[in-house]
Amino acid sequence: MQPEHHGDHGDVADLFTQATWDARYAESDRIWSGRPNQRLVEQASGLTPGEALDVGAGEGADAVWLAGQGWQVAALDVSEVALARVAAHAEEAGVGERVVTVHLDVMGGGPLPGAYDLVSAQYLHPPAERLAEIVGILGAAVRPGGTLLVVGHHPDDLATGLRSGHGHPELLFTPDKVVAALPADEWRVEVADAQTREVSDGEGMVTVTDTVVVAIRR
Ligand SMILES: C[S@@+](CC[C@H](N)C(=O)[O-])C[C@H]1O[C@@H](n2cnc3c(N)ncnc32)[C@H](O)[C@@H]1O
Repeated sequence: MQPEHHGDHGDVADLFTQATWDARYAESDRIWSGRPNQRLVEQASGLTPGEALDVGAGEGADAVWLAGQGWQVAALDVSEVALARVAAHAEEAGVGERVVTVHLDVMGGGPLPGAYDLVSAQYLHPPAERLAEIVGILGAAVRPGGTLLVVGHHPDDLATGLRSGHGHPELLFTPDKVVAALPADEWRVEVADAQTREVSDGEGMVTVTDTVVVAIRR
């Protein structure tokens, strides 16, 4: 995932609506790179494929990659424009039968449908005061023995200038904020790290930092 500039400094709640994301996706045929997220590939490559839920699936690069690894994938997003792209990309990649789309507003606060061996949320940044609640909702969709993978932009990235486009720096989160939402008697946390990677900002390479949390449901 590369572009981060939403160009909008309005109400934070507007960052999570279908209208906002449908409009954003409709701006161009493709807004993300089409490549699976590095952290997903790193963390999920060693897992035994089963049923996966990708929350905030975007245009489906992660869902298509997971399906290619043998997973049965539910790609969930608030944007129907994005979900149409997920379905098209899955068909093009020959994994259409292993990817279903789920149109749902995860900020609605209700439980997610189904139970999964892997629930992945890549760069979904809930309002700061709702992060714990949303992590709890994601976690509730993980089967016992299954994996929760939460990846986000770390606040250290604010120094790069790459994450200031939407005007809500408080949306970036540290690993401890995610771990705090995972009761120790229910979860074994395997990874809670700030991990760096190099990306191009259009002029040169910049070091960015991801929050990466992997937890296994007991
Ligand atoms: C920053 S993008 C990340 C997309 C993808 N995971 C990736 O890494 O390329 C955030 C995604 O979350 C989706 N999203 C935003 N608010 C949402 C909500 N309330 N419920 C479900 N999905 C939402 C957006 O439509 C968008 O596709």
